[in-house]
Amino acid sequence: MRAAVVRAFGSPEGITVEERPEPAPRPGEILARVLAAGVNFADLLMVAGRYQVRPPLPFVPGLEFCGIVTAVGAGVDRWRPGDRVMGAPLGAGCFAEHVAVPAQQAFRAPPSLPDELAAQFLVAHGTAAFALERARLRPGETVLVSGAGGGVGVAAVDVASRLGARVIAAASRPEKLDAARAHGAHEAIDYEAEALHEAIARLTHGRGVDLVLDTVGGRFFDESLRCLARGGRTLVVGFASGVIPRAPAEYLLIKNLTVIGIGFGGILAEQPETVEAVIEGLLRLHAARPFAAEVGGRFGLEQTGRALQRLADRAVVGKQLILPR
Ligand SMILES: NC(=O)c1ccc[n+]([C@@H]2O[C@H](COP(=O)([O-])OP(=O)(O)OC[C@H]3O[C@@H](n4cnc5c(N)ncnc54)[C@H](OP(=O)(O)O)[C@@H]3O)[C@@H](O)[C@H]2O)c1
Repeated sequence: MRAAVVRAFGSPEGITVEERPEPAPRPGEILARVLAAGVNFADLLMVAGRYQVRPPLPFVPGLEFCGIVTAVGAGVDRWRPGDRVMGAPLGAGCFAEHVAVPAQQAFRAPPSLPDELAAQFLVAHGTAAFALERARLRPGETVLVSGAGGGVGVAAVDVASRLGARVIAAASRPEKLDAARAHGAHEAIDYEAEALHEAIARLTHGRGVDLVLDTVGGRFFDESLRCLARGGRTLVVGFASGVIPRAPAEYLLIKNLTVIGIGFGGILAEQPETVEAVIEGLLRLHAARPFAAEVGGRFGLEQTGRALQRLADRAVVGKQLILPR
């Protein structure tokens, strides 16, 4: 089979396409033909050797996929060849024609989810829904989403607006703000053009927001704390800016704020039943009003490096896909 391969940690330009033996499913695994694989910020970190997990070199990147089961390993009874699956094998491997995935990190892709949505659903929509659930978001609350034109950001806007929140999207470019509006954002702030706390004061009549969902970290995290209403919560989802912020404890105390860490990767690895429940909740929302995939680009395996570089350049609206065939 053909696969994108990382031979040395570093820039995504070093990724090559190679012929590799098709993996055989080990006990407890399924083998799938990849229809589409979602491109995540975490792929960029993994290729650079800066992710929590550093796979042994050489490795095939790609965190998540949608595909068709072609074989099952010993001890797997829930899956049959021909089943449609979305999965996140955690050790990467999805930017390839075939991928082996542990059965507990594989989930049914119902016919109602098109391939291009299923290929990004676990990480983007799954993380967003899990985070909003942990924050116990209530209808009528105001949510500020950073990086709102990115993969998790668009999904967070989509899910929060379906849950009845008033969503304020924050992003760096008009086309990202347009995408966030199309996915249900009620207001949009260009945080490169306007001071965040001034924009939030204007949009909330000085009250502040109830919840922040932050995928960017750094300066955004610091400034967004000042945008919270008393008793507000912040969901720490990611640090796409490359800067890991520190929460000022005295400010949290004075305003009764709560900072909630979100590690959906760990949940995918260890709690498949929680992931199943998150997916069920998302599918109920999807049945009431279908999610649409915001596809920021479609690439062949040879263009994997280019797709990842576009993420590093902040050039992507929504989520890109690798289509191995
Ligand atoms: N905690 C979890 O379980 C979990 C799950 C999934 C993802 N994540 C993390 O969440 C973050 C977002 O992931 P994603 O896949 O949605 O990424 P993405 O599509 O690239 O979106 C990230 C957004 O961050 C903003 N950004 C600000 N500074 C940036 C910089 N220096 N370089 C690149 N982007 C920058 C960009 O929006 P603007 O240009 O509009 O600022 C970009 O659209 C990542 O840190 C990822 O690792 C965490």
